[in-house]
Amino acid sequence: MKTFFVTGGAGFIGSAFIRSLLADDPNVRIINYDSLTYAGNLENLAGLDENRHVFVNGDICDRSSVLAALPDDVDAIFNFAAESHVDRSITSADEFLRTNIIGTQVLLDAARAKGVRRFVQISTDEVMGSLPDESDEYFTESSPLQPNSPYAASKASAEFIVRAAIETFGVDAVITRCGNNYGPRQFPEKLIPLMIANAMNDEPLPVYGDGKNVRDWIYVDDHCRAIWLAYENGRSGEAYNIGSRNEQYNIDVVHAILDALGKPYDLIRYVTDRLGHDRRYAIDPTKAETELGWKPLTSWEDGLIGTIDWYRNNQPWVEHVRSGEYREYYRRMYGEV
Ligand code: NAD
Ligand code: TYD
Repeated sequence: MKTFFVTGGAGFIGSAFIRSLLADDPNVRIINYDSLTYAGNLENLAGLDENRHVFVNGDICDRSSVLAALPDDVDAIFNFAAESHVDRSITSADEFLRTNIIGTQVLLDAARAKGVRRFVQISTDEVMGSLPDESDEYFTESSPLQPNSPYAASKASAEFIVRAAIETFGVDAVITRCGNNYGPRQFPEKLIPLMIANAMNDEPLPVYGDGKNVRDWIYVDDHCRAIWLAYENGRSGEAYNIGSRNEQYNIDVVHAILDALGKPYDLIRYVTDRLGHDRRYAIDPTKAETELGWKPLTSWEDGLIGTIDWYRNNQPWVEHVRSGEYREYYRRMYGEV
């Protein structure tokens, strides 16, 4: 039996990772450590085998709580826990610096104290900044780290913290840098679930700037398999870029969602651009393909339709997360769009 300590496992990607790990391997036990911020949702964990999945409500910045929850025989820590939304980091960076940087340091210290065999840091392509429009440039593992948003800067800092633990203390660690994920259970502050939820309710769809920013979209389960393979096959000290070679203009994503739902394009509202809005992300995943033996399995067309169907079929989930704090956030961000 292997034991894994997963942080942020009540969020979008962490819960997908746990779900697939438990389904794929009967000899796996997971401690899911999450402080249940606005983005953490126990509904994301419904139906999981309680004998092999233990949930602990705790903050990764709380050293004694992490040490109390982390047993001595842990095979790996997968650090998903983060403040993850760029727009929120523009409004206030404090929590981003605390959780994404300090929290990573606390986890690395705890990993050393408890002899954890491997540390997997879930990072993002956003640490590499922005690429020029319409160019044939791609993010590779040797691209410089030049983050542009407070969120990206905090994630880049976390990468340096991990590097320091490897170099100074010999911690065994790998880093994954993925592009924009989409799929079931993503909090509707991010582009795809926000547009699906608004379109389903015939509400306006706020598109920033000219709608021509490019993101490289990947289905969440493909990302989760890459993380697992980085754990199994990755070399300590290395970063792996994860992407599906699927660049899309934001406006094309929005059109595809409206088409799939049979809703009119006049729901679209062009709104004031995000400050410091990165123009284009595009990932060269050659290293992950060759070294990890990874390739994506879900096409953009199938993944998007499957995701839209999930939101359609899980309206109570959508209604729960769109109540409370979300309403205040939405009003602050979008006003009377
Ligand atoms: P999310 O916002 O959906 O979930 C984050 C989870 O972390 C939540 O469950 C939250 O409760 C928990 N958390 C936050 N602060 C915490 C703290 N101090 N202690 C313990 N738990 C805490 O995020 P996500 O989209 O699932 O992203 C997961 C990870 O993947 C993040 O590290 C993010 O930077 C990275 N990532 C995300 C994407 C993407 O497209 N969503 C792409 C690349 C990388
Ligand atoms: P987002 O999902 O926030 O991810 P990230 O900023 O990490 O890439 O945004 C994806 C793209 O969609 C980004 O270019 C900003 C844009 N966007 C909008 O146009 N409108 C919105 O309401 C949101 C949330 C994002």
